[in-house]
Amino acid sequence: MISVRGLSKTFYTSSGPVHALDNVTFSVNAGEVLGIYGPSGAGKTTLLRCLALLERPDSGEILFKDENVLLVSGEKLRQLRMKIGVVFQGYNLLFSRTALRNVMLPLEIQGFDRQEACSLASTALDMVGLSHRKQFMPSHLSGGEKQRVAIARALVTEPEVLILDEPTSALDRRTAESILELIQAINGRTGITVLIVTHQTELVGAICNRHIYINNGVLSEPGFDLEQGLQAAPGSGETT
Ligand SMILES: Nc1ncnc2c1ncn2[C@@H]1O[C@H](COP(=O)(O)OP(=O)(O)OP(=O)(O)O)[C@@H](O)[C@H]1O
Ligand SMILES: [Mg+2]
Repeated sequence: MISVRGLSKTFYTSSGPVHALDNVTFSVNAGEVLGIYGPSGAGKTTLLRCLALLERPDSGEILFKDENVLLVSGEKLRQLRMKIGVVFQGYNLLFSRTALRNVMLPLEIQGFDRQEACSLASTALDMVGLSHRKQFMPSHLSGGEKQRVAIARALVTEPEVLILDEPTSALDRRTAESILELIQAINGRTGITVLIVTHQTELVGAICNRHIYINNGVLSEPGFDLEQGLQAAPGSGETT
């Protein structure tokens, strides 16, 4: 479904260039749950932002169903973005809006009328088990509830791909497991393709069909031994 070929991205900072992605190549099959692992600073979020069409790589290709999405612009790009739901690291909820109005936001941007946006957002919140929290402000929600709102917001446009950046790292173990169960249930029910960026390999690995491992912007070879890689990787002490 997604094919990434030779993706590179360098940030030029005051302390020199940072090669966040260096010739990254991999594919994702339709309907699978793919784990993207690696230590802090490995390039995981940068990769996710490129896949979500929020960041432009310096070189390489991203094929979405055989179409190079990096060549797309305007209205077509807007439509493509609708097919990719993103749950950002740290939720990125708007604190001046209720849970319901946060989930309505992507629909409002797409030009849905208010009543339809409200009804679809309400259904999305039901789906993530938050029927009783629709009118709550984010500051009155627990971490797990905020994550559920973020997932509902990512799903409200009925995307074909769901990308989650560290969806469990700020949560206690029990809450994290309930979020992973939710993601697995959504994948099972809708067949949506899921990419989960995490450094919690043991916890998140339980719901992944496959994983790739990235470190210093470089993807490991297929067949790479994850356990050994984590022991060898700088920052591996942070993994659980
Ligand atoms: N906008 C930016 N400008 C400059 N450098 C950046 C920028 N975004 C990311 N980087 C650098 O690129 C590298 C990869 O960052 P990235 O956020 O992709 O890592 P990550 O794997 O998501 O880390 P974490 O697990 O801590 O979230 C880091 O060295 C980071 O400092
Ligand atoms: Mg990150």
